[in-house]
Amino acid sequence: MNKKSHKGRVFSGVQPTGDLHLGNYLGAVKQFVDLQNQAYETIYCLVDLHAITVWQDPKALRKATRELAATFLACGLNPEQSILFNQSQVASHTEMGWLFNCVARMGWLNRMTQFKDKAGKNKENASVGLFSYPTLMAADILTYHATHVPVGDDQKQHLELTRDIAIKFNNDFTQYGFFPIPEPIIQGAGTRIMSLRDGTKKMSKSDTSEFSRISLTDSAEAIAKKIQKAKTDPLNLPDNIQALEGRPEAKNLLNIYAALKNTSLNKVVEETKGTSFRNFKSKLTDLAVETLSPISNEINNLLNDTNHIDTVLRIGSEKAKNIATPIVESAYEIVGLLSTKK
Ligand code: TRP
Repeated sequence: MNKKSHKGRVFSGVQPTGDLHLGNYLGAVKQFVDLQNQAYETIYCLVDLHAITVWQDPKALRKATRELAATFLACGLNPEQSILFNQSQVASHTEMGWLFNCVARMGWLNRMTQFKDKAGKNKENASVGLFSYPTLMAADILTYHATHVPVGDDQKQHLELTRDIAIKFNNDFTQYGFFPIPEPIIQGAGTRIMSLRDGTKKMSKSDTSEFSRISLTDSAEAIAKKIQKAKTDPLNLPDNIQALEGRPEAKNLLNIYAALKNTSLNKVVEETKGTSFRNFKSKLTDLAVETLSPISNEINNLLNDTNHIDTVLRIGSEKAKNIATPIVESAYEIVGLLSTKK
């Protein structure tokens, strides 16, 4: 890495399953780019192996992986400054993942709420991969000795498990400090972006209503239409933040405006007090289109040249391997696996 990393090494992963939306952008990707531009070493991974823990159509998976890479690049991720790659190109993740399958306990994984949510009522029919998903995630992080992990609320439990695995490995083999214990960087503090149809639910790609979210590839017309249809309440916009309590839709739209404008909710409330939703929505539409259009144009440009995207990912994978391979070799050695490499 040609960059100073005195603040530490950041690792995060995103699943390549369908379009990114405004909530992902304001809550996650924008933060990834900010961290890249600070003194962190930054490694971002398209976690295709996690995606296949539930059924993925092979053609769609390939497409979604390239789209996600294009989205990262269009949002300002610079492959000279960050490592960007897809998980399946670096074998260290699955190698370390196996070691962690042997470190993590059934009881620990049984407590994971995401497995319960995703497996639903028919647990017997869930893939084994979906159950051991968190050990692969721990491998993603620890294979790079990452110190900081930006995660959403829903991934906090998995990061706790990662910490438990690191601690147990270090203790079991009396290799204190071999795995650093990674710290979370909680995403979107203050910018939790909610559904446009229901201000109490998170904006989500699994919501059945297209109108609940703005996709980063939406046209200007689609953005305008979705904002126009966004749920509101009968009042005008308030003159103080406290008055937003109990008005989740108003709060959400103001939050989106503030995040897009890179300013505080306070300032936005000051700017918009007494405004009708109608007028505010037209301001918000202009700002959203102005911010997102260059991104969606760039995504489309990049997708016209899939060779370029594949090259970026291949180069990223080589850089990732350079960090990960020696760490996996040390872990094998610590466990007592005979290695022919030394
Ligand atoms: N489980 C994460 C999610 O669904 C994705 C992920 C995989 C990840 N590996 C990771 C996130 C490592 C942070 C670090 O959002």
